[in-house]
Amino acid sequence: MKKILVIHGPNLNLLGKREEDIYGATSLAEINAVLGKDAAEGGFAADFFQSNHEGEIVDTIGNAPANGVDAILINPAAYTHTSVAIRDAIAAVKVPTVEVHLSNIYAREDFRHTSLSAPVCRGQISGFGVDSYYLGLRGLMNMLRD
Ligand code: DQA
Repeated sequence: MKKILVIHGPNLNLLGKREEDIYGATSLAEINAVLGKDAAEGGFAADFFQSNHEGEIVDTIGNAPANGVDAILINPAAYTHTSVAIRDAIAAVKVPTVEVHLSNIYAREDFRHTSLSAPVCRGQISGFGVDSYYLGLRGLMNMLRD
């Protein structure tokens, strides 16, 4: 069974309690539950990882091939805009990756308009709330079936 690794970056552990007007009321556990169910229904296994630490995210991406990961769904959160290391890890492992954001990063502050990681991803989905995750997973599953 092909495996999809879902990675959540910093502060996403606070979803549901964090700036609800921007990020919504759904918790990370609830998002993961839907992703796990959607993946299983699609015939895929899903693993989940959240960290507030850049190096841990870099390590997790770097270990993905050895752990049998076939695709990555990632919300790098604030590291989207700052982390050359996460970008380089995605480029290094060559595991197809989709970047997602709950909010529309291009409609917010200027410093959020640049994603360092999106150019090394297969695609980016931004601005659909929790649906960004679910749409990203759907895209990855379709891609893995091709
Ligand atoms: C975010 C957008 C980022 O700019 C922000 O730092 C986040 C969440 C989103 O999902 O909308 O933490 O990635």
